[in-house]
Amino acid sequence: MARLAQIVIFGASGDLTARKLVPALLRNFEEDNFRGPIQVIGVSRTEKTDAAWREELSSWIPESQKAVWERFKPLLSYKSADSADPRQIEALEGHLDSLALNAGEEPHHVGRLFYLALAPGLFAPTVEALSKQGLVACEPDAAEGWRRVVVEKPFGTDLGTAQTLNHLLYRHLREEQIFRIDHYLGKETVQNILSLRFQNAIFEPLWNRKHVESVEISVCETVAMEGKRGAYYDKAGASRDMMQNHVLQVLALIAMEPPSSMRPDAVRNEKVKVLESLRSFTPAEVHEHVVRAQYAKSDKRERDYRDEYGVAEDSRTETYLAMRALIDNWRWSGVPFLLRTGKALHKRFTEVVLRFRTPPLDLLNGPLPGDVCPLRPNDLRILVQPDEGVRLSFLVKRPGAGMVMQHSVLGFDYADLGTGPTPDAYQRLLLDAINGNPTLFIRGDEVEAAWRFVDAIRAGWEANDEPVHAYPAGSKGPAIANELFHGCEGIWSEGP
Ligand code: BG6
Repeated sequence: MARLAQIVIFGASGDLTARKLVPALLRNFEEDNFRGPIQVIGVSRTEKTDAAWREELSSWIPESQKAVWERFKPLLSYKSADSADPRQIEALEGHLDSLALNAGEEPHHVGRLFYLALAPGLFAPTVEALSKQGLVACEPDAAEGWRRVVVEKPFGTDLGTAQTLNHLLYRHLREEQIFRIDHYLGKETVQNILSLRFQNAIFEPLWNRKHVESVEISVCETVAMEGKRGAYYDKAGASRDMMQNHVLQVLALIAMEPPSSMRPDAVRNEKVKVLESLRSFTPAEVHEHVVRAQYAKSDKRERDYRDEYGVAEDSRTETYLAMRALIDNWRWSGVPFLLRTGKALHKRFTEVVLRFRTPPLDLLNGPLPGDVCPLRPNDLRILVQPDEGVRLSFLVKRPGAGMVMQHSVLGFDYADLGTGPTPDAYQRLLLDAINGNPTLFIRGDEVEAAWRFVDAIRAGWEANDEPVHAYPAGSKGPAIANELFHGCEGIWSEGP
């Protein structure tokens, strides 16, 4: 049995804590996933009692979990503190120590996870305050008394700010203690990319430039600027909010070489190589390979993006971004990676499509009259959400005279496993952080490589004064984005 772990959530009054973090901890508690006892300590500036915090959180707990919530609730306590103020952190330490002693543990034996569910400007000051107070230190992790910090996104706003943040963190923590979260890595279907590729022998031989014609990765959303999101989003745009992190992380898992083992660094070494092999576009390449756009009002939405709350009237922030990315390495040289993400689109889906090359000879079924492109026989679709599964398409002969081909599909759906809804990403990620497994967290060099790629695109937009195209809210995005596909490569998938 492991020693007591204290999970300290900075930003305890925030949305993320109530919607994601506490429900994820509760679910792990319900499934008995913790290796030892835990205590959850919420910290934010507002004064409130333990009971008031628990009450606030209760409203997010579904009826079906109320019984387990009653058992879980006593593990939660609250401490008001300004996380950037060392004196208040000192008081927090006293609180943590007494909680440990009450549980019969010496404080220096207790593991502590500090979760920074805070505004990004507070990441560095909070770690500095923790370090000043001796609550975290750059010492080798002992099996007991470990200290770890989870850093929420966004991790910087460009390469420079990400490097500065990394340097600040490294002054107080070792890389192994820093857990940079990207919740896409916690999604079951994203993790399944690793098992699909590396635990089956039939896909990997085809997983390269010789057999794959193109790879498409789409993260499409129907949501727009709900609530007060516009103020944050207008400074970020799709490039920083989604591309730099979620889309490129999925790309890294799809394109990486097989790791030598599942050790965290073996996996992350391979991912960083992919991110570093992404071609960093020149402004001329940005013009040719990237499309940015903004949604406009339509019968589906009454406001232009620029009329959203918190958005500048003359904003040029992209709510849609599509590109033809290239990975300059031996496996993928010349294979386009068509990446797309956007808000206010017609359908919510995240999907990866590998389109395989056509057979060298079209013996049976030439193009249909008037069609110049051969029928594409095979693609592999990885459905990440909301549909969760895998589809492999191939051609079969339609029964009857002649050799007429039609598509058929082999499929797997998570729903058919009968294991119930797939766990929320935070459930797995929080457990991994408590257990000290950073495989599904982003290493400092990965973050920097991803920013280098995105920064070059943003610099190209500036240098060329690239247009921001418009697309009607609720549509499939700007038609011009289909030009990123060349010749017979196809057009953007419409989702499952
Ligand atoms: C967040 C972005 O990281 O991911 C949001 O900031 C986006 O803009 C969200 O909507 C998407 O996450 P999911 O899990 O709903 O696909």
